[in-house]
Amino acid sequence: MLRTHTCGELRTEHIGQQVTVSGWVDTYRDHSGVLFLDLRDRYGKTQVVFAPEGGKDNLAAAKSLRSEYVISVTGTVAHRPEGTINPKLPTGQIEVRADRLEILNKSLTPPFHPTAKELPGEDLRLKHRYIDLRRPEMQQTLLLRHRMIKIMRDYCDELGFIDVETPVLGRSTPEGARDYLVPSRVQPGTFYALPQSPQLYKQILMIAGYDRYVQVARCFRDEDLRADRQPEFTQLDLEMAFVTAEDVIGVIDGLMARLAGQVLGTELSLPLPRMLYDEAMERFGHDAPDLRFGMELIDITDLAKESDFRVFRAAAESGGRVRGLNAKGAAPKYSRKNIDDLTAWIMQDFAAKGLVWFKAEEGGKLSGASAKNFSESLLERIAQRMAAEPGDLLLFVADTFEITCKALYGLRKRFGAELKLYDPSRKHFSWVVEFPMFAYDQEEGGWASMHHPFTAPRPQDRELLKTDPGKCRAQAYDLVINGYEAGGGTIRIHDQELQQSVFELLGINREQARERFGFLLDALRYGAPPHGGIALGIDRLVMLFGQQDNIREVIAFPKTQRATDLMTGAPGDVDVKQLRELSIKVER
Ligand code: AMO
Repeated sequence: MLRTHTCGELRTEHIGQQVTVSGWVDTYRDHSGVLFLDLRDRYGKTQVVFAPEGGKDNLAAAKSLRSEYVISVTGTVAHRPEGTINPKLPTGQIEVRADRLEILNKSLTPPFHPTAKELPGEDLRLKHRYIDLRRPEMQQTLLLRHRMIKIMRDYCDELGFIDVETPVLGRSTPEGARDYLVPSRVQPGTFYALPQSPQLYKQILMIAGYDRYVQVARCFRDEDLRADRQPEFTQLDLEMAFVTAEDVIGVIDGLMARLAGQVLGTELSLPLPRMLYDEAMERFGHDAPDLRFGMELIDITDLAKESDFRVFRAAAESGGRVRGLNAKGAAPKYSRKNIDDLTAWIMQDFAAKGLVWFKAEEGGKLSGASAKNFSESLLERIAQRMAAEPGDLLLFVADTFEITCKALYGLRKRFGAELKLYDPSRKHFSWVVEFPMFAYDQEEGGWASMHHPFTAPRPQDRELLKTDPGKCRAQAYDLVINGYEAGGGTIRIHDQELQQSVFELLGINREQARERFGFLLDALRYGAPPHGGIALGIDRLVMLFGQQDNIREVIAFPKTQRATDLMTGAPGDVDVKQLRELSIKVER
């Protein structure tokens, strides 16, 4: 070993010992002929002192050191002189008085300093990720990730889950995103798809009798990226046979309690709260609501029908909805200009037709540009429904149910942050259950799965598949933490006939189903047990537990918003020869 101790290890009990520490030169300063430097590794920092007593040659060599040089220093541990003790540092009581220096490697001047207070631009950090990963914050995050994955694996192992790896080169599994394709050289013109999830393989494992499967699985989805999405990400993927939704939820409840206890030091009370999908949409406008604060959506469609205000009446009478929220105490904080900006934003981002607002005045009256369109008594009833008190800002959207959901969800989220309605360090865990089986795809003109096509309907809704698919509810459950979907799963269809009829409803005819999922349909005929499972987004969990707001912060080598790797330059051009071997011609 080129060291006896790490840079975070030495304490007063080591005083007098001869030690060797190795690491990166963090900072250095010359104090009247004595050189002090902080030596850094992922365990911490240790002050090293080069004085003339330690040898003139050593001192001269030390003076040539620069930031990020890699060195090894041998010396004696000593108490720091009075006045130079640093109580903030675990090693702040001691220093190493050097009598030998070895320069293990030099460094160019780094593009940014790993322990600088100011964070450099993200592009620079991603391009020089090896420097960025030296930052203590990144090291803590990767350590957190490691610990969380270890807890997950240990927990699953204790419950009898076995870890099985599934192929990366496979056939497309539909999870709603585009596939990443890999051309086959051996079978020209054919392609593997990288897994969007191991969904079908884990179902096959259930049919094969491995009744508790787990995998820390890499998934690939070519979709538009957001702060909580990466094109390749990691799931804790589970599947269980002979279970109901309750059983799967129970396993994850236990896992969340363990993670919260061991990582955050907080006790979760189980079972975690649950909400039906319909209720979530009604109360919060979203299937992953942030429940750290209230500000629920309130329906006033009935009152809107009575008004002479065209915007409200038209929406109410055409089957749409008029809903709003009460931003408590926000009236004095939001000027006319601020509200105009909010209006422009929801029109642009959520296709809302507009935003109607009132401010609650002293005495309880509502004022605002649209107030003149309402009778006094109607305004009073609106104020009452919204539980308005002086100083409150009431905002309404009149539109289709979907648009009121999207726009008000957006507004609620924004007010939650702007009005500081929650403690950012708090974690709120809950389930949203019984999603619709299908959503109507206006563009394609047909039903699409809300989860994936292997999801089982609630037994009592099976008939609805034939009569009213839109009303059919699934045995589906999503884990929601602080407004993020942290995981999602379902009980699966284990009956070949039912699977076939769901494919048909989705517009996948018998031939296509055979061609794409023939192996699954076949397997379902050879004794498929009832089964179900879930996948948790590990990156999102680490992001939430580590209180980060961007998924790139918790992945060692993430992709940019444009799905590129700034360090390696991927995706990149390939040799014409390689393309020829793959029978591929590129047109740009
Ligand atoms: P689903 O598609 O809901 O379910 O994915 C499960 C969880 O994975 C995370 N996730 C992502 N994280 C980062 N970047 C992405 N692009 C991304 N996409 C999804 C989310 C999500 O909740 N096979 C099913 C699971 C099952 O039914 O068992 C599936 O993959 O946290």
